[in-house]
Amino acid sequence: MTDIILNHKSIRKYKDDPVAQPLLTGILTAASRASTTGNMQVYSIVVTTDKTIKEKLWEAHFKQNMVLKAPVILTFCADFNRFNKWCRQRKAVPGYDNFLSFFTAAIDALLAAQNAALAAEAQGLGICYLGTTTYNADLIIDILELPSGVVPVTTLTLGYPDETPEPADRLPLEGIVHAEKYRDYTPEDIDRIYREKDTSPLTRKLLQENNLETLAQIFTQKRYTKKDNELFSGKLLDVISKQGFGG
Ligand SMILES: Cc1cc2nc3c(=O)[nH]c(=O)nc-3n(C[C@H](O)[C@H](O)[C@H](O)COP(=O)(O)O)c2cc1C
Repeated sequence: MTDIILNHKSIRKYKDDPVAQPLLTGILTAASRASTTGNMQVYSIVVTTDKTIKEKLWEAHFKQNMVLKAPVILTFCADFNRFNKWCRQRKAVPGYDNFLSFFTAAIDALLAAQNAALAAEAQGLGICYLGTTTYNADLIIDILELPSGVVPVTTLTLGYPDETPEPADRLPLEGIVHAEKYRDYTPEDIDRIYREKDTSPLTRKLLQENNLETLAQIFTQKRYTKKDNELFSGKLLDVISKQGFGG
């Protein structure tokens, strides 16, 4: 299992080969065995293989091609709808129409997603998460007909890899681990921890292409801008509230 984790690489190009149903069922079963708050399993997984629905999802995911190419798309949703119904059918009054409950359900959904990801990789499949799920949650709600109490929080593309990318870099362990208590970073720590990322050949190429001075500027000015973050934060907060978690 550790080897599988250490060999993880996001896969964005897929072969046409379908994922056999027993294999998919095994991956979904692994997802369902993830730890879950109070054993409530307040999440749902929507499996998409239909071409027409995939085309709609592709639009919602900013036309990322892997959504069309991957044979299976798994949308992981925070879901209190089912649990609320169970409560009401059992003479119990649910109190889950609030932000804490949304966050709880989102954590459950993410843990299930990562279990599915690892189970898939263990079977020779490739995956890629799609952050665009939270950018355009409103569109995905419409496409997948998600009722009140259900919010999509992440998506996995799933299929047989048609590429063998190099492993992406990671920060050194000392950059992310704190012994006993949080030790805040000095400017020297930041220089050391980010040195490899800042100076890699890939970074140099990106800087040339974007005519920018630092990798951090690529993040703040190109990839994840304040303007976009504020726009999509507003949209997501609206969605969370509209789907019944605004109490
Ligand atoms: C929550 C989340 C959202 C992501 N969204 C996207 C995405 O929309 N498109 C994409 O190509 N990769 C996406 N990724 C993949 C990351 O870019 C990738 O994990 C990261 O660059 C590290 O590379 P690796 O997974 O190959 O180690 C996402 C990853 C996570 C965890």
